[in-house]
Amino acid sequence: MIRIGNIAEHVGESVKLGVWLYNKRSSGKIQFLQLRDGTGFIQGVLVKSQVAPEVWEHANQLTQESSLYVQGTVRRDERAPSGYELDVEDIEIIQIADEYPIALKKHGVDFLMDHRHLWIRSPRQRAILKIRAEIIRAVQDWLDGQGFTLVDPPILTPSACEGTTTLFSTKYFDEDAYLTQSGQLYMEAAAMALGRVYSFGPTFRAEKSKTRRHLIEFWMIEPEMAFTEHEESLRIQEELVSHVVQHVLKACQSELQAIDRDTAPLERVKPPFPRITYDEAVELLNREGMSFEWGEDFGAPHETKIAESFDKPVFITHYPAKVKAFYMKPDPDRPEVVLCADLIAPEGYGEIIGGSQRIDDPELLRQRFVEHQLPRDAYEWYLDLRRYGTVPHSGFGLGLERTVAWICGLDHVRETIPFPRMLNRLYP
Ligand code: 4AD
Ligand code: MG
Repeated sequence: MIRIGNIAEHVGESVKLGVWLYNKRSSGKIQFLQLRDGTGFIQGVLVKSQVAPEVWEHANQLTQESSLYVQGTVRRDERAPSGYELDVEDIEIIQIADEYPIALKKHGVDFLMDHRHLWIRSPRQRAILKIRAEIIRAVQDWLDGQGFTLVDPPILTPSACEGTTTLFSTKYFDEDAYLTQSGQLYMEAAAMALGRVYSFGPTFRAEKSKTRRHLIEFWMIEPEMAFTEHEESLRIQEELVSHVVQHVLKACQSELQAIDRDTAPLERVKPPFPRITYDEAVELLNREGMSFEWGEDFGAPHETKIAESFDKPVFITHYPAKVKAFYMKPDPDRPEVVLCADLIAPEGYGEIIGGSQRIDDPELLRQRFVEHQLPRDAYEWYLDLRRYGTVPHSGFGLGLERTVAWICGLDHVRETIPFPRMLNRLYP
């Protein structure tokens, strides 16, 4: 079957397409059918005097989202948004659709979310999902090209990675188990086996946050690198993110246009990214009139304020140990802060990457388990990584949905994933 996505190769030919009717207009003598097949949109033109009466009648019957096969000749047309039109010769109806709930007018968000399974057919949602797929492709291409090996960590786990407050618990037969918050601990094991690794998979956080940046189920890319210190990890992060953005700008022109993304801020996303320490960020906030105490964690408004001072993503490094995870390596010169960085996207999109160098000293790690009241039993295997040939190593987690929201310029992460799982939403 020929697809609208490569219709350019069929100019002048009569082709048969499997399509849905998106919209139609009629002038009495001519009908204009907006057709979509998932790969693109094209306008079909029917002239009453030039088609058989039953073809005209079929076109008359078509309702929004009716499915059909259409036969027609492809014509180049400068004025058409896609650059092509179809002079319709024949129509074979597959189904006349029931009255479609998502009419071509504005609907409320809750209504659209209830109909997410249909909403994803709209041009805007389709474009976002295409861009999401290209982002995934670009991430994997880049990492594969840099000698990283894809490794899949488990989803069901016996222990927490990112604090015990946001764990989804379940039963693993008679044992307690949790849905993974992050594959990181397993990726550290994998890095000791394969050197440079990354995972790409779903992660879960039972976060009672109802913000435009939080999902309960989200996808993360988690690279982990043996013999790699904090500074080298930052260089890899900025290269990776720049590659992804530049790839999307090239590969997704029509999709970015479909969602009205201003691409100028994206063009600037090239290494190096500015770096500021947590201390400097605190100073910046106070200077900008947002009073902020050293030792607190930044919230979304703080991140937005900090990002406003830069026109590229910015790394905030060296956070106080007490606001970060148990596994982060303290700065040898200043143990109250850790060798970590959050990458804050421009334009108010907030943290897209969290990463750090990891503690490699077994004794210090044991101490952290005590301080964080983590059950040693469940982490014994993780301590083994420090017992048997420990090395300096670093890694990070790139949140896919936050990255999609930023690159697409979306108000809310709910549009970045086909079926979002949010605080009050498990349907559809
Ligand atoms: O900063 P986080 O919690 O880091 C980790 O999980 C590390 N273990 C990663 C690692 O070093 N391998 O999460 C990483 C990223 C965040 O920067 C953010 O982009 C995204 O994951 N993220 C979320 N995205 C959507 N909804 C949520 N509830 C998210 N929580 C984190
Ligand atoms: Mg974080």
